Amino acid sequence: MATFDKPLWQPRSPEETRALYRDWAETYDADVQGAGYATPGRLAQALAAVAPDLTAPLLDFGCGTGLSGRALAAQGFTTIDGTDITPEMLDHAQATGAYRKLWPSAPGDAPPPGYPIIAAIGVVSLGAAPADTLHVLLDALPPNGLVGFSFNDATLADASYMDALAKAQDTATLIHEAYGDHLPGKNMKSSIYILRKS
Ligand SMILES: C[S@@+](CC[C@H](N)C(=O)[O-])C[C@H]1O[C@@H](n2cnc3c(N)ncnc32)[C@H](O)[C@@H]1O
Repeated sequence: MATFDKPLWQPRSPEETRALYRDWAETYDADVQGAGYATPGRLAQALAAVAPDLTAPLLDFGCGTGLSGRALAAQGFTTIDGTDITPEMLDHAQATGAYRKLWPSAPGDAPPPGYPIIAAIGVVSLGAAPADTLHVLLDALPPNGLVGFSFNDATLADASYMDALAKAQDTATLIHEAYGDHLPGKNMKSSIYILRKS
């Protein structure tokens, strides 16, 4: 069965996650773009509207094949780095030319310091990175740093992710939230969020 036809949005281990995206890397772009993948464009636009400096380094955490980096570049961000746990996805990101640098990470790795903006587009979600990844990303930001991320419908229905979002607001302010299209071809929506660290 093709990856996009499998049940995707359900809990899985980091090893299973990496295997899923390894097997999906070749057809990921065609599959999600064919279903109208809208979240990268929505979140990139929202981040560009609040970012104090579009030239500041931005980390595209869980960059995948680079669709998210391309969306961020299209909104004017000029210094985009990316990381992902799946080398086969990173190979495609490299080919986009949207990134200053790319590196493979291990599940749970904290991003390096030096990024006032982190985007995690379609990453902190059921079936991909666990809910506590949100705190790892917030911890890596400097004061006033921004993290933009998205929860799809399946993730919005999972208490662990909603609890993580609530807890994140102990140390950050939710400055943007919008529910809209995610994969219209799959009849799926997402909420996009931007938190500013205190
Ligand atoms: C749905 S794709 C999104 C990719 C890209 N951001 C986009 O919008 O097309 C999810 C990505 O998250 C990566 N991922 C899953 N768990 C991760 C983790 N714990 N840390 C970093 N990346 C992870 C996967 O390898 C995959 O490339």
